[in-house]
Parts: sequence; C-alpha cells; structure tokens
Amino acid sequence: MQTSSIPGGAAVAAGNGLEAFVRELPKAELHLHIEGTLEPELMFRLAERNGVSLPHASVDALRAAYQFNDLQSFLDLYYAGTQVLRTEHDFHELARAYLRRARADGVVHAEIMFDPQAHTSRGVAMETVFAGLAGALRDARERHGLTSVLILSFLRHLPEADALATLEAALPLREQYGDLWIAVGLDSSEVGHPPGKFERLYERCRALGFRPVAHAGEEGPPSYVRDALDLLKAERIDHGVRSEEDPALMQRLIDEGIPLTVCPLSNLRLRVVDDLARHNAARLLRRGAVVTLNSDDPAYFGGYIADNYIQCAHKLGLARHELVTLARNSFKASFLPDEQKQAWLDRLESRYGQ
Ligand code: HPA
Ligand code: ZN
Repeated sequence: MQTSSIPGGAAVAAGNGLEAFVRELPKAELHLHIEGTLEPELMFRLAERNGVSLPHASVDALRAAYQFNDLQSFLDLYYAGTQVLRTEHDFHELARAYLRRARADGVVHAEIMFDPQAHTSRGVAMETVFAGLAGALRDARERHGLTSVLILSFLRHLPEADALATLEAALPLREQYGDLWIAVGLDSSEVGHPPGKFERLYERCRALGFRPVAHAGEEGPPSYVRDALDLLKAERIDHGVRSEEDPALMQRLIDEGIPLTVCPLSNLRLRVVDDLARHNAARLLRRGAVVTLNSDDPAYFGGYIADNYIQCAHKLGLARHELVTLARNSFKASFLPDEQKQAWLDRLESRYGQ
C-alpha cells in the first residue's frame, strides 16, 4: 500500500481502501430528488439552450451561493434551478447524468423522486416530465441492468387540492409508465405542513395501489413522523432523524422495522445537525433501526451516495460490516419485487459473508 508523507498519511491510505470498498458495495438509493441532481454545469447548458437567464453569472458563482441556513433557503435555490428544465430532452439528460453518476457509486437500484408541480406550474406538460425521465430510466436498465422506479412527490407547501389535481393529471400516464411510477411521496417545506393536511390524497393514492412514503422528522417534530405512519400509512420515512427525540416513537420504528431514508450530508448542509460527527445515523443503526444512507439533493449538498457512506464511515466510525448492513437495509427497504430483493441480499451475503 502506498503511504503518504503528509501528516495523517496512514488515514489517507486507509481512506483510499475505504473508497473502493464503498463504491464496489452494491446498494440501492431510496431518497433522491432528481431535480436535486442538477449540477451547475448542466444548469448553465440547459439555460443557454432554452434561452433562460440565470441569476448567477457563472458556475462558480452559483456553487458559491450554495450556503444554506435551513431547508427553505435551499428550496428557494432548488426551485429556481428547475426553471431551466423545459423539454423531454432536458429531463432525459438530467436523469441520464444522475444514473451514470450513481452507477459509479455502486448503485444497482434507485427509487427516484420527482416534483411534477414544480414543472407543471411553469407550463411544462406532465407528459414531458414523465417521458424524459422514463426514457433515461429504461435506457439504464437495458444498457447497464441498473433498475429504477419513480416516486411522484407532492409539494406540501401547496394545498391538498393542488396535489389531488396533480395526481389526476398524472393518472392517464400510468398506462404508459406504470412499470416505473409505483410510489408517491411528500416533500418541500415541512414545518407548518403536517402530514394530516394530505390524508385524503394518500387515501386515494393507496386505493390506487401506489406505495406511500413521506418526508417527516427532518425539520419537523416527531409528531409528524407519527402522523405520517398513522394518517398517511407511510411505508418508509424520508429522513426521520428527529424521531429520536420521542423515545416511544423511536422504539416503535425499531420494533416495526420501519425504514428511515437518512441523508447525512443533506442534514449537515441544511443545518439539521451542526457536525457530521454528531449525526445520529450510526446510533440508530446500532439500536437496530432500518437505517439507509442516501444523497437527497447531491448537486447541492456536496456529495453523492458513496460520499455519504464514506464521510459517515470516517466521522461516525462505521465499521465495514456496518456499511454492509446499510447496503443490506437499502435492499430490504426498497420496493423491489421480493425475488430481486432476495437476489441482492444473497449477493451481499456471498460477497461479504453476512
Ligand atoms: N426536504 C424536503 N423537500 C425536499 C428536499 C428535502 O430534503 N429536497 C428536495 N425537496
Ligand atoms: Zn428529500
């Protein structure tokens, strides 16, 4: 092994081994907003192609603006960024770039959220969004065997009626894209928009056969997590890190094996935690919660899924067998058919022996 003469050289060398280990570890990405994978370079290219003017003068100026105080300060830039996405080709390129990047990180299956209301409200047709994303997802499956599905996510800062209208507008497309669109989610500004606001929407989605997930307990209190479970019947909680503040709720999540799709670098950049070394992902994992690590909005938060694994390994002291457990949890918590799920779990067991 090559060692470095700089202080901490041994750690650097060990780090290199860790990086390869993490990137080769087959894993599923379960919490990823496709609009949050829009890298500044692509944003500028699409802006030019579509004649959209951007408030920042350059890629560097835009990246420099990625200093967030909280979820809302990020969402303001995130929604501004979506303005460059206009055509089917744009959505295809966006998803293709993400899937290529994910493959390099060892992602073999991705469950991808998208926010149609952020596009239809600007006059982009629902069909344009679906067609662009679906084209890239199907290509990745055919060319690389990387499987993926879509989670249509509703913006919780808008009224439930808006979400219901969005669902109805998307439903005719289910015939064409029903193999991909299998789940629904709830995202955007959390505090002040509790899950109960969307009870009727979720009831309808479940009746239609969609798998329900919801963001809860990122900035919002543990009661939002409980409501996401009890009122929305969410099968997975996106983030959920604040659940720990309510011991009874946390025990319930563990006992019932309800997965948490945790996004440590997102939590750091949005100041849900002030130091990655104090993130509760490792503690929850060691208590037996079905924790998964994910990238959320990697173009904005400085890292894709492997970076989340690697930085958590460094800062939280995750051992390799714990990284394998995280990967195993990602398949267990996925919406893959049982047979495919088991095939990945068997693959992990035969390669890593657990
Ligand atoms: N939280 C809520 N809504 C979002 C996020 C997030 O982290 N990313 C994109 N939409
Ligand atoms: Zn999210």
